[in-house]
Amino acid sequence: MGNGIAQVAARSGFDVVMCDVSAEFLARGMKAIDKSLQRDVDKERLAADEKNAITGRIKTTTEMAELASAVIVVEAVTEDLNVKQKVFQSLDSITAPAAILASNTSSISITRLGSATGRADKVIGMHFMNPVPVMKLVEIIRGAATSDDTYAKVHALTEKLGKIPLECQDSPGFISNRVLMPMINEAIFALYEGVASRESIDGIMKLGMNHPMGPLTLADFIGLDVCLAIMNVLHEGFGDSKYRPCPLLKRYVDAGWLGRKSGRGFYEY
Ligand code: CAA
Repeated sequence: MGNGIAQVAARSGFDVVMCDVSAEFLARGMKAIDKSLQRDVDKERLAADEKNAITGRIKTTTEMAELASAVIVVEAVTEDLNVKQKVFQSLDSITAPAAILASNTSSISITRLGSATGRADKVIGMHFMNPVPVMKLVEIIRGAATSDDTYAKVHALTEKLGKIPLECQDSPGFISNRVLMPMINEAIFALYEGVASRESIDGIMKLGMNHPMGPLTLADFIGLDVCLAIMNVLHEGFGDSKYRPCPLLKRYVDAGWLGRKSGRGFYEY
């Protein structure tokens, strides 16, 4: 999702530094940005020179130190508390004390990420939705210590990005995944129990509920590893068995069938 966030920020006129662990990942990210912008050029919604100007505003690096002059950093690393906490500790020492540190986490506690830094008042959740250039929402999550000033600045920034900010308190899964993920998990249980085929389950939700994608297709799109990580956060966070991840979801993740990104999930790609 990092490249989608970089694209949206650069398109809104911001200078962006996109940082990743390897040159290969950065090249893949720039390729995705190019492809996404090219759609709009092809549809004559963006001039070719504007596209070049947008990509020209994105600098790539594998050195986190290059984020030193950032006014705001939006972290979008792997959905793992320990990894994210280490990244936040590094960002806290690299960036200026006034910089805001935002996380694109889909379910990890913003309060916990804030407490890994010496500036919990400037740590906040900015949860973008996939595909980032298309989806209007940014769920803004306030940690226990997030200040009103940080919230106001991130709210204004989200609007400058052409997105709609909606506020939520720090609670497992926030709102988006507290509501979405149990539905996806239930669809997986229905498949596991043989209640219906994958096509029927998805078709019923698409045609009957007007969802743009059926829940199993959406799970493949999000990534089954991400779905499992979110169900685990809900299960542990609420201690309620209604959030237990479906064994079929666990089995697919164990097999490396992670959805679109690995070529196989509930469907083959
Ligand atoms: N970059 C730029 N534009 C894109 C794009 C991308 N990556 N993907 C699709 N689009 C654009 C297309 O150009 C097209 O634009 P126009 O209609 O203006 O011409 C539009 O989006 C629709 O695309 P398509 O016609 O190719 O396909 P579609 O109608 O099936 O839409 C979809 C694709 C937007 C992904 C749609 O299926 C959808 O909304 N799916 C549900 C997405 C969703 O639920 N996202 C949230 C996931 S949860 C999450 O992200 C958070 C979490 O924590 C897990």
